[in-house]
Amino acid sequence: MLPDDIVLEELMRLSKSVFVNREVLRPDYVPEKLPHREEQIRRLTQILAPLVRGERPSNVFIYGLTGTGKTAVTRYVLMKIKEYVEGRGPGFIYVYVNCRHDDTTYRVLARIADALGERVPFTGLSTAEVFSRVKAAIERFGGVVVVVLDEIDFLVKKHGDELLYRLTRINGELRRGKVTLIGITNDVSFVERLDARVMSSLGEVELVFPPYTAEQLTDILKERAEKAFRPGTLAPGVIEYCAAVAAKEHGDARRALDLLRVAGEIAEREGAEKVTVDHVKRARQEIELDTVSEVIKTLPYHGKLVLAALLVLGGKAQSTGDLYIAYRQICRALGTEPVTQRRVSDLVGELDMLGIVTARVISKGRYGKTRVIALTVSPETVKKVLSVEEGLREVLA
Ligand SMILES: Nc1ncnc2c1ncn2[C@@H]1O[C@H](COP(=O)(O)OP(=O)(O)OP(=O)(O)O)[C@@H](O)[C@H]1O
Ligand SMILES: [Mg+2]
Repeated sequence: MLPDDIVLEELMRLSKSVFVNREVLRPDYVPEKLPHREEQIRRLTQILAPLVRGERPSNVFIYGLTGTGKTAVTRYVLMKIKEYVEGRGPGFIYVYVNCRHDDTTYRVLARIADALGERVPFTGLSTAEVFSRVKAAIERFGGVVVVVLDEIDFLVKKHGDELLYRLTRINGELRRGKVTLIGITNDVSFVERLDARVMSSLGEVELVFPPYTAEQLTDILKERAEKAFRPGTLAPGVIEYCAAVAAKEHGDARRALDLLRVAGEIAEREGAEKVTVDHVKRARQEIELDTVSEVIKTLPYHGKLVLAALLVLGGKAQSTGDLYIAYRQICRALGTEPVTQRRVSDLVGELDMLGIVTARVISKGRYGKTRVIALTVSPETVKKVLSVEEGLREVLA
């Protein structure tokens, strides 16, 4: 085939793509419509309404499981209030910080400073210095500064709640200007770990985002799919299937959108004219493989071996002791020195935190307690990923 023909063929294929605009399905796209979040939009607007008069709204603490629209709704409402206030009132400044990306005290403060027009070098200053520059900048501005700390649990897990403590106290130290904090998290246990004083000032008002039902996810997907796909390219039942899968996994809209996008990409790769339920099923496997590989890649070597031991046991161990025996056998086969049972127990805890296994303590009456450990993802996927590790292919074969 002539190179020219290859290019033409590929371009032709693309012009037949099922997508008209796949960007609409990406997680960072802010949609114009947010079905089934009317109540949260209304509540948040009521809470933030004092901004219109240049007054300080209460701090807000927003929580709910992943993919329930917390980020999308918060950004939407702030953007709309900003538009409304423009040219009408005293104006306010809002800063959006994602604490997963900006995960140090320094970087969060630098981000706030930046929004206030105060340049802070990448490194080199003490946090105390940056903090006082932020304070000075707020006083110079004199109005209300809304600081959104999204995925706030990442910051606190890594660096404690000192910054939060200081930010919740800042209004008492300012001569002019005021700060409102909006903290967002999907980690319910986060609340328990937070200092009570910090929590009571951060959570002056709380807003909960419940998970979506399958029907609600269907509406959300329909709205987005209309913009993303060429008319008539979605086979009947595709949207409902994506919605049902995501609803079963705790009502996560991001998951539903990802499924639909990846299904579309698979259909496109194949040059198919329609996206079918079968494409969605394969998308599901592809996504699972990606997430599991990401997680497994970061594990320490013996963490991988513990996972391999669980696989050898058929994906479930009735106790840490059982798992430890299987683990030692793998170590022997590989000629590796095993770690202690205590350490294996810790590794199981890590795997549990990463969401790849569940470890549940079960009481056995007078025989005491035992920890049942089970894979949460499909054994085939784990096997596929682990098999690339040195020597493990043979052990798992
Ligand atoms: N009601 C909705 N209508 C349309 N799209 C939505 C709706 N809720 C969520 N989405 C979309 O789903 C995706 C995930 O939503 P969002 O990022 O707001 O979730 P989140 O609650 O912040 O999750 P996390 O806790 O993981 O950060 C985004 O692409 C968002 O646009
Ligand atoms: Mg979010």
